[in-house]
Amino acid sequence: MIIAANLKTNLTRKTTLDYLGELNSFIQKNHISQEVLVFPAMSSLNSCDGDVILGAQNAYATKNGAFTGEIGLEQLEEFSIKTILIGHSERRHILGETQEEIVKKFNYYKKLGFKIVYCVGEPLEKREAGKEEMMQYISSQYKGIDTMYENLIIAYEPVWAIGTGLTPTLVDIENIHTDLKAKSSAPLLYGGSVKVTNAKEVLTLKNVDGILVGSAALYVEHFCTMISYAQDLSQ
Ligand code: PGA
Repeated sequence: MIIAANLKTNLTRKTTLDYLGELNSFIQKNHISQEVLVFPAMSSLNSCDGDVILGAQNAYATKNGAFTGEIGLEQLEEFSIKTILIGHSERRHILGETQEEIVKKFNYYKKLGFKIVYCVGEPLEKREAGKEEMMQYISSQYKGIDTMYENLIIAYEPVWAIGTGLTPTLVDIENIHTDLKAKSSAPLLYGGSVKVTNAKEVLTLKNVDGILVGSAALYVEHFCTMISYAQDLSQ
């Protein structure tokens, strides 16, 4: 399974280093064979020689250049980062990234062979508009994306469930994942208010290949507990 932590705009370079140290020693001590990804804040990117795979929460589709406030391939290469999160709802909805811009990033980093965690998910009004409209909306987020890309991981994250403590029912998650698996056979993660108390149930669902965790992953011991659930379930 794939267990991923999106640390967003949290932790410092120092506290991220401590976090990764604890995480790596947990993985080693417990012989964890799951794929563990961590997306720290940009200023906390670093070379990582443990088992954890570090990824960038965002990067511009460029090697370098005049793009104030952005980072590009050159800054990722410094730390041998080959994993990126693209299309997260906070970038789509708070920072106004369009599908067109997202596709540009996707294609740029795909060409370089990056592992791409690509996020999709509907806002509340689309969910409330009924299944058909909701699935249409989610389908529009697949537009321009190579769903056959070998290093693709998709994360289904309903916008209304992110950071709110709300989650779809388990049946809903399973149904949507089944529909999304028909669009792409890439590993499919669920994200949106996953925490220690619901991670195990979510991980047991059909067509759920892992989880993408935000707030609850800020506590390294909670994140480790979720990793151990995945480990137990995979045995
Ligand atoms: P959350 O965030 O776990 O805090 O809901 C998930 C995400 O944004 O990836």
